[in-house]
This record gives sequence, C-alpha cells and structure tokens, in this order.
Amino acid sequence: MVAVVFGARGSVGRHVAAGLAEAGVRFRVTSRESAAGFVVADLERPETLPAALEGADRAFIYAKPEGIDGFVAAARDAGLRHVVLLSSGAVVNPGADRDPIAISHRRVETALEESGLEWTFIRPGMFATNTLWWWARSIREEGRVRMPYPEAQTAPIHEKDMAALAVTALTRPGHAGQAYTVYGPESLTQRELVKHIGNAIGRDIRVEELTPEEARVELGRTMPPLGVETMMRVWASGVGVPARTSTTVPDLTGRPAHTFAQWAHDHASDFSS
Ligand SMILES: NC(=O)c1ccc[n+]([C@@H]2O[C@H](COP(=O)([O-])OP(=O)(O)OC[C@H]3O[C@@H](n4cnc5c(N)ncnc54)[C@H](OP(=O)(O)O)[C@@H]3O)[C@@H](O)[C@H]2O)c1
Repeated sequence: MVAVVFGARGSVGRHVAAGLAEAGVRFRVTSRESAAGFVVADLERPETLPAALEGADRAFIYAKPEGIDGFVAAARDAGLRHVVLLSSGAVVNPGADRDPIAISHRRVETALEESGLEWTFIRPGMFATNTLWWWARSIREEGRVRMPYPEAQTAPIHEKDMAALAVTALTRPGHAGQAYTVYGPESLTQRELVKHIGNAIGRDIRVEELTPEEARVELGRTMPPLGVETMMRVWASGVGVPARTSTTVPDLTGRPAHTFAQWAHDHASDFSS
C-alpha cells in the first residue's frame, strides 16, 4: 500500500500524514511549493500529478473543482484505487443547490462518483481552526475579541479528528462509497469558545459584541464577500439553537472526538503573545 497525501502541509493534511506514519503505511507527501521531503504537485495543474501518483494506490485530496477532471484522468492512468476527499458538510445543508461553497464541493464529489475510482467523502462542519483567523491576532495583541452574535452556537471540529477519519478510510476496509458528515462533539456558544481559549492561555479575554453591519466591515477586511455572508448567516441562525453534533469520529475510529477545550490547549501558543 502506498498513499499520497496532497496538501500535507495543511492543517488537516499534516495530521493525515502523521496518522499514516503511526499506522505504518508507506506514503508520500505533496505541496505546491518545493520543500524538503515533499513532491511538488498541484491538483489544478494535471501535468504535475503523474510524478506524485506513480506507484500509489490511494490518495487524500482537497476539493479543487478546477482540477478534478485532470486529477481523475491522472489517477486512472496511475492505477490509483481509492481517493479520500476532504469535502464539506455544506453539501448536505438545506439550500445546498444555491450555496456556492456546497456547489463547488459537490462538483468534486460528482466527478469522483463518476470516475470509476473508489471514493470516500469526509464532509465536515465548522473547523476549530477558523477561530485562529478570526480571533488569534486580537487575542494576542489586545486580549479581546470583537464578534457579532456571541451567543450563536457552533460545534467546531478538531483537525486531528478529520484526519483520523481520513486515515481510517485510507487504511481500513469498508469505507469505499461512503460519505461521512462530521460535526464537533459539543455545541458551544462563541462566548464559550473564547472562554476555553482564555483557560488554555491563562488569560481573561474580553468579548465585545459587534452589530451585523460592523461585523460585515470587520470581516470583509480579510474574507471574501461570500465567506462573510456565509458566516453571518450561520451565526445569525445559531443564536439560541444548539448546533448539530455528531458521533462520526468515535463510531469510525473507536476513539472519542477532541473537545474544543482540548483544541484550545493544543493551540495555546497560537493565541499567546
Ligand atoms: N474552514 C472550515 O470551516 C471548513 C469547513 C468544511 C470544509 N472545509 C474544507 O477544508 C479545506 C481547508 O482545509 P485546511 O484547514 O486543512 O486548509 P489549509 O490548512 O489552508 O491547507 C490547505 C492545503 O491545501 C493545499 N492546496 C491548496 N491548493 C492546492 C492545490 N491546487 N493543489 C494541491 N494542494 C493544494 C495546500 O498545500 P500547499 O500550499 O502546501 O500546496 C495546503 O496544504 C477548505 O478548502 C474546504 O474545502 C473547511
């Protein structure tokens, strides 16, 4: 068995590589940039794929709609059998047929379903790592977070848990043709997420509530308009409503999912000055 981990420097991909190493599986890691130990490969540049896939029989990939047809052709040529895709839970949400994020992930899923390759889809809800780009800088520099809807509930997922699902699908039988929706194990308000981060770094973090209008301006500085509107919609609909949780991680891996408190502990240095 030889596995290829595309995007192995990404927050999920790096843990997929670590999990394969722990499982004793032979694997190869790729990046679009040249770096020691990494094969240079770009899922949107098909000419880079044969070298990455040579001799491999399975792969972990990110959803790249522009490149998926080229990937399928290269995977068939290389004799790949099984592809595990990091997709998105957006594809099963109501209104998915009108949501650009869901549409782009479904485009990749559909190409794999029609490819003749074996496939497994991991469809996560919100990543815990999102809080890094929302809040890490202001917590480090100002000891506060500014956010809309602090009482909105979410169930963030630890990247290690998504990776553990991918490693299970890559290394154990019975996962071909399966799509796994995964949410975090507990529903927490945004205010509670901040509290957990504060506990992890031993610091009181102030929460300052923004109006939706203020939040659009603030988020718009670092996020494209589509991302801003998606987040505003998700938060607005989460006020007073428990977020969806799942038991996908323990069901598939036999290990409990990480809590957000554990995630905050793992990332304490990202929030500390
Ligand atoms: N954030 C959420 O709440 C959420 C929810 C559901 C699904 N998702 C999915 O998760 C993905 C983000 O995962 P993540 O947190 O692990 O991201 P990340 O830390 O930003 O890593 C993304 C990885 O993808 C690789 N990559 C990007 N473009 C590529 C290309 N054209 N060809 C090959 N590799 C490429 C990058 O590798 P190099 O730069 O080294 O080439 C990088 O390692 C999103 O794109 C989305 O599909 C996110």
